[in-house]
Amino acid sequence: MKEITLKTPTSESKVYCGANAFKSYISEYKNKQIFLVTDTNVYAIYSKLIDDTFGSNCPKCVFEAGEQSKNPQTLFRILNLMLSSGMRRNCTVIAFGGGVVGDIAGLAAALYMRGVHLVQVPTTILAQVDSSVGGKTAVDMCGVKNVIGTFYQPERVIADPMFFATLPEREVKCGLGEIIKYGALDGNIYLKLIENVEGLNCESFLSEIVFDCIRHKAQVVESDERDENGARKTLNLGHTTGHALELFYGNKSHGEYVLIGMYCELQLARKYGICGGQYAKNIEMLVLKVLEQLPQFKDIQSAANVALHDKKNDDDNIVLIVPEREGKCAELKLPLLEYKKFLKDCFDNAR
Ligand code: GLY
Repeated sequence: MKEITLKTPTSESKVYCGANAFKSYISEYKNKQIFLVTDTNVYAIYSKLIDDTFGSNCPKCVFEAGEQSKNPQTLFRILNLMLSSGMRRNCTVIAFGGGVVGDIAGLAAALYMRGVHLVQVPTTILAQVDSSVGGKTAVDMCGVKNVIGTFYQPERVIADPMFFATLPEREVKCGLGEIIKYGALDGNIYLKLIENVEGLNCESFLSEIVFDCIRHKAQVVESDERDENGARKTLNLGHTTGHALELFYGNKSHGEYVLIGMYCELQLARKYGICGGQYAKNIEMLVLKVLEQLPQFKDIQSAANVALHDKKNDDDNIVLIVPEREGKCAELKLPLLEYKKFLKDCFDNAR
């Protein structure tokens, strides 16, 4: 088992990663006042583990699984339940689940009595390598993603690979999407992915690479906790296009859209001479290994318009984070019309 300490100017989080992390580190909270947040999918699988660990009477909120629950209503339901079950200022919110659970429970912990203890127990690969680490918390409102939120660091993140055993194949693919993204940001992760390309979803490999991704993310968050100086923006590689397609079409997982975004943005980096040679071929190979093939979309130019709302953009340009070379990415700025034309050509050429 491995441990990372993530220090920010106002907090210190411990991340425990590896087999038995849950059993070993959750015991720290057994005699504390706990409020557990999870969703119906996770609870259906882990209710026995939850009851055995926290007691069957542990106050909890189990909300309907899915992004549609990530809203102010669910947030206030959690806060209401916390109040009615007598949670005090020194209670601990345990976010037990994937990214949606972590984001809402984190925001509830930040708001309740102006902030209570928070422990993230991410049960998906995606949540382990990305959303549970770094303190971003949020709900969506009026169709705008993450529009109400805050930075609130968990005091513990417990990332145990035992949860991967129950993940559907689609969710593994989704997690691998973010892992491949880290491969384009971190030279060490890139080499491990290339060396293990035939066994990316093998449990021992996943367990090791998840730790590497968390370590990379922790370093980025330490240098730019509040997404202000550009370091944290790099974690958005592949996401400008990925998010636009996800918001417009929405029928694939987030990780798949990140991979599709990476594929397109890699072609952009090639076109503008930012990335090339064997490195570009290898990144493309990793992306396609998980994605299998680039899907086709109808009306891609309208979908491209959604990228206009990306938070990285400056006044006139779409801003993209693209691969450059091992362990290095670059920022590329493009006017919307050029970006739209490029995206259309990219999908036409892949036919
Ligand atoms: N998911 C990107 C970040 O945490 O900044």
